[in-house]
Amino acid sequence: MTWEELEQKCINCTLCPLGQTKTNTVFGAGNKNAVLMFVGEAPGESEDLSGVPFVGRAGKLLDKYLEVVEIPRDDVYIANMLKCRPPKNRDPQEDEQDKCISYLREQVRLVQPKMIVCLGRISAMRLIKPDFKITKEHGIWVKKGGFEMTAVYHPSLLLRGNLQYKEEMLEDMKVIAKKYRDYKQNA
Ligand code: URA
Repeated sequence: MTWEELEQKCINCTLCPLGQTKTNTVFGAGNKNAVLMFVGEAPGESEDLSGVPFVGRAGKLLDKYLEVVEIPRDDVYIANMLKCRPPKNRDPQEDEQDKCISYLREQVRLVQPKMIVCLGRISAMRLIKPDFKITKEHGIWVKKGGFEMTAVYHPSLLLRGNLQYKEEMLEDMKVIAKKYRDYKQNA
């Protein structure tokens, strides 16, 4: 499948009811040949209105971390588990994830990243392991399906202001940036 075909499939998707209430499909954005891919949960209001992932408050905070560790946002690919906004920003449901995950898998197949970073526990539970505990296991790297994978706190959790989480996030992001630069150098 090509990028265009995949995006059209997402836009026209009727596999779950979220497609009926969305404003825009939030397909994904960034470098289609990225070494590093981030996977969040689902679009929020700003993303639903713009069609672009991580552009609201959580996205701005993610941008700050990327800036601090000197990873250009344009150089990574950012997608979500769900391509359509769940009403009132509730967590993505299992059945919605089941229906939507094939689109994400196809995006990963097309990008062929070296590293996949889950933003928050929802994508970590789906992509790394079902009993993933974000407070204990963030920043731990595993090799899975030919990728190096880890998870970090979701930026919207960090917005709620726990200073320790923010410090841990910065340390995790520094490790991500180091690995990213190593991969870029050896590419
Ligand atoms: N939260 C997410 O998980 N994804 C977005 O795109 C925005 C907020």
